[in-house]
Amino acid sequence: MFSNVSNFRDRYQHAHNKINWHIPDPIKRGRFLDVGCGTGNGVAAAAAHGASLAVGIDRSFGEFGHEFNVDEFPDLCDAVGSNTDSALLLEGNIFDLKMPFPGFDYAMMLDSAEHVPDLERIIKWTSDSLRPGGYLLLDTCPLFYSPVGSHLWHWFPEASDPWAHLKPGFEQRCHDAGIDAWNMDRYRELNKVTHQQIVDMFVGTGFEIIEEHRSKTNPEREALFQRFGSDIDLSTIQKEWLFEDWILLVGRKI
Ligand SMILES: C[S@@+](CC[C@H](N)C(=O)[O-])C[C@H]1O[C@@H](n2cnc3c(N)ncnc32)[C@H](O)[C@@H]1O
Repeated sequence: MFSNVSNFRDRYQHAHNKINWHIPDPIKRGRFLDVGCGTGNGVAAAAAHGASLAVGIDRSFGEFGHEFNVDEFPDLCDAVGSNTDSALLLEGNIFDLKMPFPGFDYAMMLDSAEHVPDLERIIKWTSDSLRPGGYLLLDTCPLFYSPVGSHLWHWFPEASDPWAHLKPGFEQRCHDAGIDAWNMDRYRELNKVTHQQIVDMFVGTGFEIIEEHRSKTNPEREALFQRFGSDIDLSTIQKEWLFEDWILLVGRKI
Protein backbone atom coordinates (compact mmCIF):
# COMPACT_ATOMS: atom_id res chain seq x y z
CA MET A 1 0.00 0.00 0.00
CA PHE A 2 1.26 3.50 -0.81
CA SER A 3 -0.44 5.25 2.14
CA ASN A 4 1.33 5.49 5.49
CA VAL A 5 -0.69 3.05 7.61
CA SER A 6 1.07 3.88 10.84
CA ASN A 7 0.31 7.63 10.56
CA PHE A 8 -3.30 6.84 9.64
CA ARG A 9 -3.61 4.55 12.66
CA ASP A 10 -2.27 7.30 14.96
CA ARG A 11 -4.64 9.93 13.53
CA TYR A 12 -7.53 7.46 13.62
CA GLN A 13 -6.87 6.69 17.29
CA HIS A 14 -6.65 10.41 18.08
CA ALA A 15 -10.09 10.99 16.49
CA HIS A 16 -11.52 7.83 18.05
CA ASN A 17 -10.51 8.98 21.54
CA LYS A 18 -11.93 12.49 21.08
CA ILE A 19 -15.31 11.12 19.98
CA ASN A 20 -15.23 8.52 22.73
CA TRP A 21 -14.46 11.00 25.50
CA HIS A 22 -16.57 13.98 24.44
CA ILE A 23 -19.65 12.82 22.52
CA PRO A 24 -22.58 11.16 24.34
CA ASP A 25 -23.34 7.56 23.34
CA PRO A 26 -26.66 7.98 21.51
CA ILE A 27 -25.25 10.90 19.48
CA LYS A 28 -22.17 8.83 18.49
CA ARG A 29 -24.44 6.45 16.60
CA GLY A 30 -26.11 9.25 14.63
CA ARG A 31 -25.04 11.09 11.47
CA PHE A 32 -21.49 12.44 11.66
CA LEU A 33 -19.80 15.22 9.69
CA ASP A 34 -16.02 15.78 9.72
CA VAL A 35 -15.10 19.31 8.61
CA GLY A 36 -11.58 19.38 7.10
CA CYS A 37 -11.34 15.59 7.30
CA GLY A 38 -7.81 15.22 5.86
CA THR A 39 -7.14 11.51 5.40
CA GLY A 40 -10.61 10.49 6.67
CA ASN A 41 -9.31 9.43 10.09
CA GLY A 42 -12.34 11.00 11.83
CA VAL A 43 -14.76 9.37 9.39
CA ALA A 44 -13.19 5.96 10.08
CA ALA A 45 -13.36 6.68 13.83
CA ALA A 46 -17.04 7.70 13.74
CA ALA A 47 -17.87 4.62 11.64
CA ALA A 48 -16.14 2.45 14.26
CA HIS A 49 -18.32 4.12 16.93
CA GLY A 50 -21.39 3.02 14.97
CA ALA A 51 -22.33 6.28 13.21
CA SER A 52 -25.28 5.64 10.90
CA LEU A 53 -23.65 7.97 8.35
CA ALA A 54 -20.08 9.29 8.49
CA VAL A 55 -19.29 12.07 6.01
CA GLY A 56 -15.96 13.85 5.68
CA ILE A 57 -15.31 16.93 3.58
CA ASP A 58 -11.91 18.30 2.66
CA ARG A 59 -10.87 20.84 0.05
CA SER A 60 -8.33 18.35 -1.37
CA PHE A 61 -7.51 14.71 -0.81
CA GLY A 62 -4.15 15.52 -2.36
CA GLU A 63 -3.34 17.60 0.76
CA PHE A 64 -1.42 14.70 2.24
CA GLY A 65 -0.46 13.26 -1.16
CA HIS A 66 3.03 12.37 0.05
CA GLU A 67 1.55 9.79 2.44
CA PHE A 68 -2.12 9.26 1.60
CA ASN A 69 -3.98 7.91 -1.41
CA VAL A 70 -7.75 8.34 -1.04
CA ASP A 71 -8.36 5.24 -3.20
CA GLU A 72 -6.81 3.22 -0.37
CA PHE A 73 -9.26 4.57 2.24
CA PRO A 74 -11.18 1.24 2.45
CA ASP A 75 -7.92 -0.66 3.02
CA LEU A 76 -6.84 1.86 5.66
CA CYS A 77 -10.19 1.40 7.43
CA ASP A 78 -9.69 -2.36 7.29
CA ALA A 79 -6.21 -1.96 8.77
CA VAL A 80 -7.57 -0.12 11.84
CA GLY A 81 -10.61 -2.36 12.27
CA SER A 82 -13.18 0.12 10.97
CA ASN A 83 -15.30 -0.13 7.84
CA THR A 84 -16.69 2.03 5.07
CA ASP A 85 -20.32 0.80 5.16
CA SER A 86 -21.59 4.19 6.34
CA ALA A 87 -18.65 6.34 5.11
CA LEU A 88 -18.56 9.03 2.47
CA LEU A 89 -15.59 11.27 1.64
CA LEU A 90 -16.35 14.46 -0.30
CA GLU A 91 -13.77 16.67 -1.94
CA GLY A 92 -14.76 20.32 -1.87
CA ASN A 93 -13.88 23.70 -0.43
CA ILE A 94 -16.44 24.63 2.22
CA PHE A 95 -16.22 28.28 1.16
CA ASP A 96 -17.49 27.27 -2.31
CA LEU A 97 -20.59 25.48 -1.03
CA LYS A 98 -23.85 27.25 -1.74
CA MET A 99 -25.74 25.74 1.20
CA PRO A 100 -25.24 23.72 4.39
CA PHE A 101 -25.71 19.96 4.58
CA PRO A 102 -28.98 18.90 6.19
CA GLY A 103 -29.52 17.75 9.75
CA PHE A 104 -26.34 16.05 11.03
CA ASP A 105 -26.31 14.84 14.65
CA TYR A 106 -22.69 15.72 15.33
CA ALA A 107 -19.70 17.30 13.68
CA MET A 108 -16.00 17.51 14.38
CA MET A 109 -13.23 19.92 13.48
CA LEU A 110 -10.06 18.12 14.52
CA ASP A 111 -6.89 20.15 14.02
CA SER A 112 -8.53 22.00 11.14
CA ALA A 113 -9.84 25.19 12.82
CA GLU A 114 -6.47 26.94 12.81
CA HIS A 115 -5.98 26.25 9.07
CA VAL A 116 -8.98 28.07 7.60
CA PRO A 117 -8.92 31.76 6.70
CA ASP A 118 -12.41 32.58 7.95
CA LEU A 119 -13.10 30.30 10.90
CA GLU A 120 -16.31 32.01 11.92
CA ARG A 121 -17.83 31.34 8.50
CA ILE A 122 -16.92 27.63 8.73
CA ILE A 123 -18.34 27.31 12.24
CA LYS A 124 -21.53 28.99 11.02
CA TRP A 125 -21.73 26.60 8.04
CA THR A 126 -21.18 23.67 10.40
CA SER A 127 -23.83 24.94 12.80
CA ASP A 128 -26.27 25.25 9.89
CA SER A 129 -25.46 21.63 8.94
CA LEU A 130 -26.48 20.33 12.39
CA ARG A 131 -29.95 19.63 13.69
CA PRO A 132 -31.04 21.52 16.84
CA GLY A 133 -29.44 19.65 19.75
CA GLY A 134 -26.59 18.46 17.51
CA TYR A 135 -23.01 18.56 18.80
CA LEU A 136 -19.85 20.22 17.50
CA LEU A 137 -16.50 19.00 18.84
CA LEU A 138 -13.63 21.33 17.98
CA ASP A 139 -10.04 20.63 19.00
CA THR A 140 -7.01 22.53 17.76
CA CYS A 141 -3.29 22.12 17.24
CA PRO A 142 -1.13 25.00 18.58
CA LEU A 143 -2.76 28.34 17.81
CA PHE A 144 -0.77 30.96 15.94
CA TYR A 145 0.65 32.98 18.82
CA SER A 146 1.84 29.95 20.82
CA PRO A 147 5.53 28.85 20.91
CA VAL A 148 5.20 26.53 17.86
CA GLY A 149 2.16 28.28 16.40
CA SER A 150 3.93 28.38 13.01
CA HIS A 151 3.49 24.57 12.83
CA LEU A 152 7.10 24.53 11.60
CA TRP A 153 8.29 22.76 14.74
CA HIS A 154 10.82 20.57 12.90
CA TRP A 155 12.80 23.69 12.05
CA PHE A 156 11.95 25.89 15.05
CA PRO A 157 11.54 23.57 18.06
CA GLU A 158 9.69 24.75 21.12
CA ALA A 159 12.58 24.09 23.53
CA SER A 160 15.24 25.96 21.58
CA ASP A 161 13.44 28.40 19.27
CA PRO A 162 9.95 29.20 20.57
CA TRP A 163 7.88 32.02 18.97
CA ALA A 164 10.42 32.25 16.11
CA HIS A 165 7.59 33.29 13.73
CA LEU A 166 6.68 36.29 15.89
CA LYS A 167 10.14 37.80 15.67
CA PRO A 168 11.78 39.99 13.02
CA GLY A 169 13.45 38.21 10.09
CA PHE A 170 11.37 35.03 10.21
CA GLU A 171 10.75 34.77 6.44
CA GLN A 172 14.48 35.01 5.80
CA ARG A 173 15.14 32.33 8.40
CA CYS A 174 12.63 30.04 6.66
CA HIS A 175 14.38 30.66 3.36
CA ASP A 176 17.80 29.99 4.88
CA ALA A 177 16.50 26.77 6.47
CA GLY A 178 15.32 25.57 3.02
CA ILE A 179 11.73 24.96 4.15
CA ASP A 180 9.78 23.49 1.24
CA ALA A 181 6.86 25.19 -0.50
CA TRP A 182 4.21 22.82 0.93
CA ASN A 183 5.16 23.62 4.52
CA MET A 184 5.42 27.36 3.77
CA ASP A 185 1.93 27.30 2.21
CA ARG A 186 0.56 25.55 5.31
CA TYR A 187 2.25 28.20 7.48
CA ARG A 188 0.91 31.14 5.47
CA GLU A 189 -2.67 29.91 5.57
CA LEU A 190 -2.81 29.70 9.37
CA ASN A 191 -5.26 32.12 10.96
CA LYS A 192 -4.51 34.07 14.12
CA VAL A 193 -7.53 33.28 16.22
CA THR A 194 -7.22 33.28 20.01
CA HIS A 195 -8.94 31.08 22.57
CA GLN A 196 -11.51 33.71 23.38
CA GLN A 197 -12.33 34.45 19.77
CA ILE A 198 -13.13 30.77 19.13
CA VAL A 199 -15.36 30.66 22.22
CA ASP A 200 -17.12 33.82 21.02
CA MET A 201 -17.62 32.28 17.56
CA PHE A 202 -19.28 29.24 19.15
CA VAL A 203 -21.65 31.34 21.18
CA GLY A 204 -22.26 33.80 18.33
CA THR A 205 -23.22 31.03 15.90
CA GLY A 206 -25.78 29.53 18.27
CA PHE A 207 -23.96 26.94 20.38
CA GLU A 208 -24.35 26.36 24.08
CA ILE A 209 -20.89 25.40 25.34
CA ILE A 210 -21.06 22.20 27.34
CA GLU A 211 -17.33 21.43 27.63
CA GLU A 212 -14.33 23.73 27.47
CA HIS A 213 -10.66 22.92 28.07
CA ARG A 214 -7.85 25.35 27.33
CA SER A 215 -4.10 25.04 27.60
CA LYS A 216 -2.75 27.40 30.25
CA THR A 217 0.56 28.94 31.09
CA ASN A 218 2.79 27.37 33.74
CA PRO A 219 6.17 28.11 35.36
CA GLU A 220 8.09 26.35 32.55
CA ARG A 221 6.34 28.44 29.93
CA GLU A 222 7.00 31.64 31.88
CA ALA A 223 10.68 30.66 32.08
CA LEU A 224 10.68 30.03 28.32
CA PHE A 225 9.23 33.49 27.80
CA GLN A 226 11.85 35.08 30.09
CA ARG A 227 14.57 33.38 28.09
CA PHE A 228 13.28 33.77 24.51
CA GLY A 229 10.53 36.38 24.56
CA SER A 230 12.43 39.66 24.63
CA ASP A 231 12.16 40.51 20.92
CA ILE A 232 8.46 39.75 20.51
CA ASP A 233 6.56 42.95 19.79
CA LEU A 234 4.01 43.08 22.60
CA SER A 235 2.45 46.30 21.33
CA THR A 236 0.30 44.23 18.93
CA ILE A 237 0.25 40.85 20.67
CA GLN A 238 -1.20 40.26 24.13
CA LYS A 239 1.20 38.33 26.34
CA GLU A 240 -1.46 35.79 27.37
CA TRP A 241 -1.91 34.74 23.72
CA LEU A 242 1.69 33.48 23.72
CA PHE A 243 0.65 30.61 25.96
CA GLU A 244 -2.49 29.61 24.04
CA ASP A 245 -1.75 26.26 22.46
CA TRP A 246 -4.80 24.12 22.09
CA ILE A 247 -8.44 24.58 22.98
CA LEU A 248 -11.13 21.90 23.02
CA LEU A 249 -14.77 22.92 22.87
CA VAL A 250 -17.94 20.88 22.73
CA GLY A 251 -21.02 22.85 21.80
CA ARG A 252 -24.66 21.88 21.52
CA LYS A 253 -26.70 23.70 18.92
CA ILE A 254 -29.53 25.59 20.57
C1 LIG B 1 -4.22 19.66 9.67
S1 LIG B 1 -5.42 18.99 8.62
C2 LIG B 1 -6.37 18.03 9.74
C3 LIG B 1 -7.01 16.84 9.05
C4 LIG B 1 -7.82 15.89 9.92
N1 LIG B 1 -8.96 16.55 10.55
C5 LIG B 1 -6.99 15.18 10.96
O1 LIG B 1 -7.44 15.06 12.10
O2 LIG B 1 -5.91 14.69 10.63
C6 LIG B 1 -6.50 20.35 8.20
C7 LIG B 1 -7.38 20.01 7.01
O3 LIG B 1 -8.31 21.07 6.79
C8 LIG B 1 -8.57 21.10 5.38
N2 LIG B 1 -9.16 22.38 5.00
C9 LIG B 1 -8.60 23.62 5.17
N3 LIG B 1 -9.41 24.55 4.62
C10 LIG B 1 -10.51 23.91 4.13
C11 LIG B 1 -11.67 24.34 3.45
N4 LIG B 1 -11.86 25.64 3.15
N5 LIG B 1 -12.60 23.42 3.06
C12 LIG B 1 -12.39 22.10 3.35
N6 LIG B 1 -11.28 21.63 3.98
C13 LIG B 1 -10.35 22.52 4.37
C14 LIG B 1 -7.18 20.88 4.78
O4 LIG B 1 -7.21 20.48 3.43
C15 LIG B 1 -6.60 19.82 5.72
O5 LIG B 1 -6.77 18.52 5.22
